[in-house]
Amino acid sequence: MIPRRRVLAGLASLPFASTALSKAAMAFSDGAPRLLGTCVRIEQLEREPQLADCLLSQFGSITPEIHLKWNSVENREGQFWFEPVDRLVTFAGKHDLRLHGHTLLWEQGTPDWALHAISHDKDWGLVERHIERVMSRYRDVIRDWDVVNEPIDTQNGRDGLRRNTFQKTFGSDYIARALQAAHHTAPNARLLLNEYGFEYDNYIEVARRAALLKLLEKLLVAGVPLHGVGIQAHLDLGKGPIPQRDVGKFLQDIADMGLAILVTELDVKERDYRATLAERDARVSDEVRRYLEVALAQPAVESVTTWGISDRLSWLQVEPGDRVDPNRFGPAAPNRGLPFDGDLQPKAMHTALLDALQAR
Ligand code: XIL
Repeated sequence: MIPRRRVLAGLASLPFASTALSKAAMAFSDGAPRLLGTCVRIEQLEREPQLADCLLSQFGSITPEIHLKWNSVENREGQFWFEPVDRLVTFAGKHDLRLHGHTLLWEQGTPDWALHAISHDKDWGLVERHIERVMSRYRDVIRDWDVVNEPIDTQNGRDGLRRNTFQKTFGSDYIARALQAAHHTAPNARLLLNEYGFEYDNYIEVARRAALLKLLEKLLVAGVPLHGVGIQAHLDLGKGPIPQRDVGKFLQDIADMGLAILVTELDVKERDYRATLAERDARVSDEVRRYLEVALAQPAVESVTTWGISDRLSWLQVEPGDRVDPNRFGPAAPNRGLPFDGDLQPKAMHTALLDALQAR
C-alpha cells in the first residue's frame, strides 16, 4: 500500500518529463490543477514498456479499465482476484500517479452469479459486502470513487433511472444506499456518480441531462453522501455539433449544487472512416476542442481522463452502419478517437488536449 499523502500529492511531484503536456500540467499547479488521466490495464503496461513510458510522460492519473469491476474482482462467488489492481496500486505508488476508483456498482460489470443472487434473494447485504470489501482494501490509496455507474435511462427507465437489477430489486433507493455504504466504509472518500450521454442536442440527451440534475438534487436534499459527478464524455461524430451553451449550463447547474465534476472517459467515436487519416484526426481533435472549450470553462471541472492512451487498445470499434471505404480500410485500422495512434505517436487530439488544458 502506498501512503495516501503520496497518491494525493499535487502535480509538482508528478513524473512529467519535458514534454509539452508536462508544461501544460505544471501550469495548473498554482491554481486548481486540471489533471490529465487515462484508463489502463496493468498487463498491457507490463507487456509494453513503450506504453508505460508514454503513460508516465503524459498522464498524472490512472483508472483501472476493467480490474476493479465486480465481475473482475469476484467473477466466481467467493473467489477474489485483487491481484491486477494490487499491481496497479504498486505501479501508481512507484510513479506517483493518482488512482481513480472505477467502479463499485454497474450492472454490466456485475457477474451473472451476483445478478441472479440479488434478484432471487433480494439481499442488500450482498451489494453492501461487495462495496465494503473493495473499498476497504483500497481506501488508503484511492480517494475518488465511481460508486454507481450509469444509473440514468430516460428511454426505458422509470423516473429517469435505469431499470437494472439493482433498481428492480431494491427500488430507486439503491443509489442512496450504495452511496451510504461507501461513505460508511470510507468516510474520507469522494463519492461520485458516473454517467454518459450528456453532450449532444437530441431529445434523448436533453432528457438525460434533466434526469441527472433531478437525481442529484434529490440525493443532496435527502442528505445522501455525494460529492461529485463523473461525466464520461464519450464523444460521437455522428451526433451533430456539441451545443456548447446547453452543455455549459448543465455543468454550471451541477457546480451550483456544490459538486465536483470530473471528465472520466473522454474519447471520440468516428462514424465516417473514408477520409484521409489527417482529415479524420482533424475531425476528432475539433470535437475534443469544442467539448473542452466549454468543459474547462467551468471551474468545477477538475480533471480530464481519456478512455485509453492509444487507438490500438481502444474499446471503440468500427460498427455496422459506419461509413467505410473497403479499399482503404483494412481490418487492422482502428477508430482514431484517442490522443495516440497505434504506434504511440501523438495525433491532433493530443495537441487539442494540451491546448485546452493550457488555455485555462
Ligand atoms: C469498458 C472497457 O473499456 C471495456 O474494455 C470493457 O470490456 C467494458 O467496459 N463506460 C464505462 C466503462 O463506465 O467502464 C466502460 O469500459 C466503457 C463505457
